[in-house]
Amino acid sequence: MTSSTPAPDLSVRLGPLTLRNPLMAASGCFGYGVEYAELVDLSSLGAVVVKGLFLQEREGHPPPRIVETPAGMLNAIGLQGIGARRFVSELLPPLRERRATVVVNVCGTTIDEYVEVSRILSDAEGVAAIELNISCPNIREGGLQFGCSLQGTDAVVAAVRQVTRLPIIPKLTPNVTDVASFALAAERAGADAVSLVNTFLAMAIDVETRRPKLSNVMGGLSGPAIRPIAVRMVYECHQTVKIPIIGMGGIASAEDALEFVIAGASAVQIGTANFVDPLIWPKVLEGLTSYLKRHAIPTIADLVGTVATRPVVAAPAGA
Ligand SMILES: Cc1cc2nc3c(=O)[nH]c(=O)nc-3n(C[C@H](O)[C@H](O)[C@H](O)COP(=O)(O)O)c2cc1C
Repeated sequence: MTSSTPAPDLSVRLGPLTLRNPLMAASGCFGYGVEYAELVDLSSLGAVVVKGLFLQEREGHPPPRIVETPAGMLNAIGLQGIGARRFVSELLPPLRERRATVVVNVCGTTIDEYVEVSRILSDAEGVAAIELNISCPNIREGGLQFGCSLQGTDAVVAAVRQVTRLPIIPKLTPNVTDVASFALAAERAGADAVSLVNTFLAMAIDVETRRPKLSNVMGGLSGPAIRPIAVRMVYECHQTVKIPIIGMGGIASAEDALEFVIAGASAVQIGTANFVDPLIWPKVLEGLTSYLKRHAIPTIADLVGTVATRPVVAAPAGA
């Protein structure tokens, strides 16, 4: 590419939704977006995925709710949140003002609750898509009962499909043996894209007190420790479904994000790394642009799923 070559196109399509770039803030790691507005230009992100919302407010679990682990963290927040209606009246207006592309992480303990929350959000102005959280490992009856069953995944997605025209993005759990079969169930039920992975169910123990380090006993593992497993899962899903995939799990640099894209992700989310460096966003975007320029790739969409898994065949002698 010469200096007159146009800048690479970072925009991505997730079914009916077009994002200005593939970088999304992961649910639960970026508040409701407005908390970060002084630090980060929200309109510069592909999208902000807000903290999971039930119909009602929730307090979440008592502390301790977070534990540091090697190359990651455990959390059992317990889906603390302000509920769908307060979100619409109090937080959507400032998000709209800042021209954020807002994806709402929708939670439920029953299918009816997923449907009701989705309906409320569909009627509101300024929601770009629904990420269906059927994968939170930290609370009983918090959606994982649907996300760990193919029938449950089908039932939630199909029911929400009936009540909204917004793009539906089920968020898959890695706590299953064959994640691709869940992506396929979501696709068949009418999902526009899938996102993966949520956190891995995990546990840490204080050996002096012999007590679990989290009040909830178990929690979800995130951060760089999970990245190679998440990349493998994105790769498997990309082999199986046609709908776009949003990949996440331990992304902390442009190179990490590129790994997911090359494995098959059309967009990526950053979660835990935002706690380490809330100024990470422009750095990763800049890294993506310079990679595309260096490899003379005009659009990031051209890179999706391009991992070369066949062995390199040596050219015959004399060729
Ligand atoms: C403190 C914390 C809170 C989270 N809350 C949510 C949530 O409300 N809904 C959800 O779908 N995922 C939630 N997640 C999972 C993240 O969105 C993401 O899927 C996971 O952390 C893997 O990405 P990462 O390694 O970049 O953090 C949470 C993760 C953390 C660390």
